[in-house]
Amino acid sequence: MTNATDLVPQLLAWYERSARDLPWRRTQDPYAIWISEVMLQQTQVKTVLPYWRRWMRTLPTVRALARARLDRVLKLWEGLGYYRRARQLHQAAQAIVSQHDGRLPATYRQLVALPGIGAYTAGALCSIAFDQPVPVLDGNVCRVLTRLEAIRAHPRQARVARRLRALAADYLARAARVGPGACGRWNQALMELGALVCVPRQPDCARCPLSRWCKARRLGLVERIPRVTPRPAPLVRHVVALVIRRAQTVLVRRRPAGAVNGGLWEFPSLEVSGAEFDPKAVARGLLGYQPSNLISLRPLRHQITRYRITLHVFHHTVPPGFQAPAALGQWRRTDRLEGLPFARAHRRIAATLE
Ligand code: ADE
Repeated sequence: MTNATDLVPQLLAWYERSARDLPWRRTQDPYAIWISEVMLQQTQVKTVLPYWRRWMRTLPTVRALARARLDRVLKLWEGLGYYRRARQLHQAAQAIVSQHDGRLPATYRQLVALPGIGAYTAGALCSIAFDQPVPVLDGNVCRVLTRLEAIRAHPRQARVARRLRALAADYLARAARVGPGACGRWNQALMELGALVCVPRQPDCARCPLSRWCKARRLGLVERIPRVTPRPAPLVRHVVALVIRRAQTVLVRRRPAGAVNGGLWEFPSLEVSGAEFDPKAVARGLLGYQPSNLISLRPLRHQITRYRITLHVFHHTVPPGFQAPAALGQWRRTDRLEGLPFARAHRRIAATLE
């Protein structure tokens, strides 16, 4: 390890000066910190801010979250993506009420036993909310540490990951001796440095409080460390969605719990094998009859995880007397769709109707 005697106070002092003033950094409430950490996984701070504020106003305690209906929880999450995070927050809140009297447990072991809480979230909670010396190793921290030590091997390799964990734990143990609250500040300082200064491309080494200790900088390797695996090419998928209308209402359905975006609402849809398909035949598969009126709207494109999806949208007005099969969902007024949590692309369709 680098001479950490000076390095630790330098980074902590930089954090005091430069940390962003974020609302979850102004609270000691483990619940509020937990929500922020889960939202911040895969999502940028500026996107998270309004979501976190609204969530804390609406569901200010573990008990409020545990009691809430899943639809309400998903609605608060609508647009953040990776909805499993919201479902697991809900389940974990219920477990915290039944097993821990509504208070987040304060040990790593108890935290990782809860739904959706893995090493990262448990480490963040232990250090930030409970001031315990548990390291966190997210992408930002890995980047800072691999550069600091000029580790050229891939951070996913088991031996590199072990080395990074040991390194993070050593620094944190030193930081912990600084005084109360230092564990959380240290871990957040590493994350903040990775987010603001030691960024993936063109890091701002001139402003970095650790530059004099940084081996990658000395060796001219900052742009080449950490080694990254190129992303696999996105997989192209095509989905047909039907806006099935009857007067002021449309058919919408809830996705099954186990599926991608489970629990969210959508327009009846069907995946097709490519962009060349017979709309009427696909619509017949969903409706049970061959529709005579089918109006094509502009297709929507969106990307989730590694899928690049084109959503081919068609309007259809049902004939009088049509009985919708249960699989197609329920009739809802087009001006009442706002209250339902929709999968992102389907929200865009709903917005065109409202
Ligand atoms: N990213 C996720 N959690 C963070 C935190 N607590 N501080 C800085 N960046 C973060």
